Amino acid sequence: MIRKSYLLATDLDNTLVGDPEALKHLFTFYKEKEFDPGLIYVTGRHLNSALSLIQQEKLPSPDILITDVGTAIYHAPDWSEDKTWATWVNETWLPEDVLSIFKNTPALVRQKLPHQKRISFTVRSRQSNIVQAIQAKLYAHNIPCHLVYSSGCDLDILPERSGKGKAVEYVLQKYAKNDVKILLAGDSGNDADMLTLGYPAVIVGNAQEELSKLPSHTLLYRAVEYYAAGIKEAWDHFYPAAQQ
Ligand code: GLC
Ligand code: MG
Repeated sequence: MIRKSYLLATDLDNTLVGDPEALKHLFTFYKEKEFDPGLIYVTGRHLNSALSLIQQEKLPSPDILITDVGTAIYHAPDWSEDKTWATWVNETWLPEDVLSIFKNTPALVRQKLPHQKRISFTVRSRQSNIVQAIQAKLYAHNIPCHLVYSSGCDLDILPERSGKGKAVEYVLQKYAKNDVKILLAGDSGNDADMLTLGYPAVIVGNAQEELSKLPSHTLLYRAVEYYAAGIKEAWDHFYPAAQQ
C-alpha cells in the first residue's frame, strides 16, 4: 500500500501536534524538497478521538492510522480496521480478567473508552512503585499483557502482542517498501517501544522526562526543537535534503 520511498511514523499529541507554525513549516518543507513521505500516525487516542484531532488541527490525512497505543490499525481512506492485526492481538487478550483484578483499586481511575481493545487508567497515587505493584499483580494472575506508563499518570494495559512498536513493525513489514527510509517520532512513555525498534527515530525536545531513560543510540536522535520542529530537525539529521 505505501509505495513511497520515505515514511514518517509519528505520534500526534505533543509530537506532531503542539506548535501550528512548526507543523505548517514541516509539511511545506516536505513539499518543497519533494520528499512526499507516506504518513503513519501512531497515537494513544481511540479512532474517533484521533480523527477529531486530525480535523481540528488540519493535519494531512495519513495512509495508516494506528490508534489505542498500538492495539488497532486502520487504513485510509475509509478507516477500515486491519482485521489480521485485530485477530492476532486479541487471541490472548483477557480484558474482563484485567478489569476484575483492578475493580477495587482506588489508585486507578478507569478511563472511559468506547471499547476494550485496551484497559486504561489514570493513576492517582503517590506510591513510587505503583506501576511495579500493578505489573506484579498481573503477573501473579498470569495475565498475558503489555503494561505502558506515560506522562506520569496514564497507565495502559494492552494485549501482550500489541503496543506502538509491534504495530509499527507489522505495518512496515506488511505494507512498506523494503528499502523505505523512515523516521519515527514521539514524546512520551507510550512511544518508547517504537522509538527503539532500530529505525531512525526522534525524541522531540519537549518530551516527557520518562524518555530520558532510553539508552543512547546512533539511530535515536534527541532533538533540541519542540513538537514538529523537532521532527524537522531530526529529518535534516537523518535525510539531508541535498542527498536525496
Ligand atoms: C492518550 C490516550 C489515553 C492513553 C494515553 C497514553 O492520551 O487518550 O487513553 O492512556 O494516550 O497512552
Ligand atoms: Mg504524545
